[in-house]
Amino acid sequence: MELLYEGKAKKVYSTDTENVLRIEYKNDATAFNGVKKDNIEGKGILNNLFSSFFFEMLAGKGIKSHFIKKISQTEQLVQSVTIIPLEVIVRNVAAGTLAKRIGKEEGYLMRRPIIELCYKNDALGDPMLNDDHIEVLDIATQFELQEIKAKALEINEVLIAYFKNFNIDLIDFKLEFGKTADGKILLADEISPDTCRLWDATTKQKFDKDVFRRDIAPLRETYQALADKLGIS
Ligand code: TMP
Ligand code: ASP
Repeated sequence: MELLYEGKAKKVYSTDTENVLRIEYKNDATAFNGVKKDNIEGKGILNNLFSSFFFEMLAGKGIKSHFIKKISQTEQLVQSVTIIPLEVIVRNVAAGTLAKRIGKEEGYLMRRPIIELCYKNDALGDPMLNDDHIEVLDIATQFELQEIKAKALEINEVLIAYFKNFNIDLIDFKLEFGKTADGKILLADEISPDTCRLWDATTKQKFDKDVFRRDIAPLRETYQALADKLGIS
């Protein structure tokens, strides 16, 4: 089947079925907009495992996504959507670029979750946008943006509660949403340790891509340890 799109971590193919796409999770790991790169055997399998699991779990809580089903170790079928070019970042604890921007130590607990919206555009370095930019650039209407933010916060609540069972704090994460042909907004892309920050609540050990970004520990072993902790296989 035809390769429609290749991103840094996934390939998207057409299928014989209308409005259904096949996504293949790659072994490539990148950071800092592709400046740091590696190919890590087994990464695609792990992220397909995580992402399929989280999309199914969210569906069980009434939160729909593009996910249809996992069809192999590295592939899943999804509903075709037009991706809204926004990286919707939800943060519970300041870390990463937010900690730097506001001059707080990583680990600074915020009074409530906050949302940041970045323009999904590698050439521009995914700059942060405000609601006005998003409306005036016709990326999403004010109404759609409210829906996206409400969904992102709802997903945050579900994920925080889930990870709490395993003594893991959900520090922050990034979501993407897409639009179906009939204009419905669906959660899309992936949910994996590539797109979340996850810290052991007691030891603060990292179980996410920061181990690769910052050369803290091997990525595959870290993701496998997370899968084992969560009992996902
Ligand atoms: P940041 O602190 O680097 O801005 O990242 C915030 C969260 O978003 C973190 O969980 C990692 C995730 N993220 C992505 O999934 N993709 C990206 O391209 C970036 C920059 C961050
Ligand atoms: N996803 C981005 C990249 O692959 C940035 C990151 O996750 O750090 O370069």
